[in-house]
Amino acid sequence: MEEQSELVPYDKRWEFPRYRIKLGIQLGVGCFGRVVKGEAVGIKGSGETVKTVAVKMVRSVTNVAALEALVSELKILIHLGSHMNVVNLLGACTKKISQGELLVIVEYCRYGNLRTYLMNHRDKSQSFWQYQQDPDVTLTRSISTRDLISWSYQIARGMDYLASKKVLHGDLAARNVLLADDGVAKVADFGMAKKMHFDIMTQHRSKIKTNAGLMPVKWMAIESLTDRVFSTQSDVWSYGVVLWELFTLGKVPYPGFGAGHQLIQAIQNGYRMEKPNKAPNLFGELMTNCWKTDPKERPAFSQLEETICGHMESTVNSNYLNLNALYVKFNEENDTATAKDLFGLAKLLTEKSQMNENKLQVNDNFRSPKNGNSYSPFPQRA
Ligand SMILES: Nc1ncnc2c1ncn2[C@@H]1O[C@H](COP(=O)(O)OP(=O)(O)O)[C@@H](O)[C@H]1O
Ligand SMILES: [Mg+2]
Repeated sequence: MEEQSELVPYDKRWEFPRYRIKLGIQLGVGCFGRVVKGEAVGIKGSGETVKTVAVKMVRSVTNVAALEALVSELKILIHLGSHMNVVNLLGACTKKISQGELLVIVEYCRYGNLRTYLMNHRDKSQSFWQYQQDPDVTLTRSISTRDLISWSYQIARGMDYLASKKVLHGDLAARNVLLADDGVAKVADFGMAKKMHFDIMTQHRSKIKTNAGLMPVKWMAIESLTDRVFSTQSDVWSYGVVLWELFTLGKVPYPGFGAGHQLIQAIQNGYRMEKPNKAPNLFGELMTNCWKTDPKERPAFSQLEETICGHMESTVNSNYLNLNALYVKFNEENDTATAKDLFGLAKLLTEKSQMNENKLQVNDNFRSPKNGNSYSPFPQRA
């Protein structure tokens, strides 16, 4: 385990003193890692005040493979830099890595993972196919189609940012998307992510994930299942499955199928899931396109973003752009990404947003709902 520390030739600016963080309740647990809530004093972006954070660690300090996976996740997070639709790194405690302890500190997302959130809000969503009528019901309101579309747009944006950074996610699923305040969705869990040196790679998955039982079969592209080939375009396939999860409010994909040979065979024979009843037709088309057998025929994340954007009211887009300016600022401070990288294809939207520029002041936008008068990313009716 000694050599693990050498695996972290990382920028000391990310190091956070262990004594300044208090660990709390568990937020989630996987086979090898767990995530707990924490209180950090004086961490990035909070001055000297206490900030609620999420801390990812390995479950067993003797599991070297799990530690390696977490080191790799930390490296990816550092490489990525900040984006509003990606869960952002705040710091790390690496000093005790030779004893198997590594804490990766990320921003806390109050509403947890998207899949659980969708499932928990099913009962209240009988009318979720209707656009919400009353914009004042912001805290306890049910999920509307508008929310689902907004999340699908934000996830595409987060994934477009990953693609622009040449990072392959490898495990995109609703369980790995987190919900923060103000309806903001963030792509998370980079435990299977890889930095691509070529646009397409044949991945030899890390030791701990090679067990077939741990592969996210129902989210994997046909070429990943058959030939272990991964690319941004295989992430696009997974995105199609996430759309399906969104519009079924968190159902398990391919109902009636296990995650075994039978399903893989069916997909190879051309079987694909149907459009969920409540999904707008456009989203049915998007799913079909994401699940094209030839990866080259699938849309790029930038195209998905643009198509969904066209479907939304323009105020939403411009508001998101303005909010993201805050993250551009973080990147400039950390010198990890340029504003140009950040916007990617969304630059197209900048023009639109200029018209609405004066509507929102960037630094005012991260108010939490409890402050009243909170910013909502959903279009408000006049
Ligand atoms: N930043 C966070 N804020 C709130 N909850 C989180 C956060 N990170 C993770 N979680 C919770 O923990 C679960 C597992 O986290 P994840 O990063 O996906 O780890 P794993 O690699 O074990 O799947 C998530 O599905 C979510 O419910
Ligand atoms: Mg996960």
